[in-house]
Amino acid sequence: MADMEGNIDARNYGIGIAAKQDVFNMKGSANAGWGVKYRLSRIFDRESGNTVMLAFDHGYIMGPTSGLERIDLTINPLLEYADCIMCTRGALRSTIPPMACKPLALRFSAGTTVLTSLNDECLLSIEEAIRLDACAIAPMVAVGGEFEAVTIKNLAACADFTARYSIPTLGVTAVGRELVRDARYLGLAARVCAENGANFVKTYYCDEGFEKVVAACPVPIVIAGGKKLPESEALELAYKAVQSGARGVDMGRNIFQAENPAAMIQAVRAVVHKFAKPSEAFELYKDLCAD
Ligand code: R5P
Repeated sequence: MADMEGNIDARNYGIGIAAKQDVFNMKGSANAGWGVKYRLSRIFDRESGNTVMLAFDHGYIMGPTSGLERIDLTINPLLEYADCIMCTRGALRSTIPPMACKPLALRFSAGTTVLTSLNDECLLSIEEAIRLDACAIAPMVAVGGEFEAVTIKNLAACADFTARYSIPTLGVTAVGRELVRDARYLGLAARVCAENGANFVKTYYCDEGFEKVVAACPVPIVIAGGKKLPESEALELAYKAVQSGARGVDMGRNIFQAENPAAMIQAVRAVVHKFAKPSEAFELYKDLCAD
């Protein structure tokens, strides 16, 4: 028990000063609980409101993807530049040092691989997300695909976990080979995720109408990078997405398959957090490569 003698009298009551209330202004989360806001605040930068998430969960359906053959060699040196990592529990436990203290978006669904039909998935246990101190749980949602119902049920179950344990849900929109990535489809898929309880949504950028996809989604959108592009084009993609209202990227191949991944993630950061133009970011990329 604290010493009862010699204590200084409390006197700094700030009478007449209104209680300070910092507002949490992330789209769609004003009414979320403290824990959800806390975890989202660890993913999204306070100043820019945006995030650079580094995605390297590809192996869970694709096996040893190019650039991820040795996560210890290729991804660990990038951790310091990521606001958040998105990966499987297997990659995390086997390879990511806990001392990196990176906010985690845990790949939370698993099932079929590229060898069969994708997206027939179940969920991990919520205890696993708690054990790993996840800042988000990320199920795949295959709107319009063969396993639409099962994946939307998975998302709904995640939203229930969010309500119970305050771990936000990231709805990851899957795009099947047969589906077109236009604003109509992406807008529908993102909205379905939000309506079913996702706190934020990962989807793809499209050149026409992406601002409508963002406008009609009541929670933040982050974009996946998709297949590897030349570095300058990937930076332009990130720029256009952020200019159209995306709150950042959850990018994989365009970072870890870049000629110089450490330079690339720093250039992506310049676009996402400093709103650098693609040409400026590409110059930065080249300067960092020269270094
Ligand atoms: C998709 O759901 C995968 O799990 C990846 O996380 C996602 O596609 C992002 O990676 P990339 O930027 O390589 O598309």
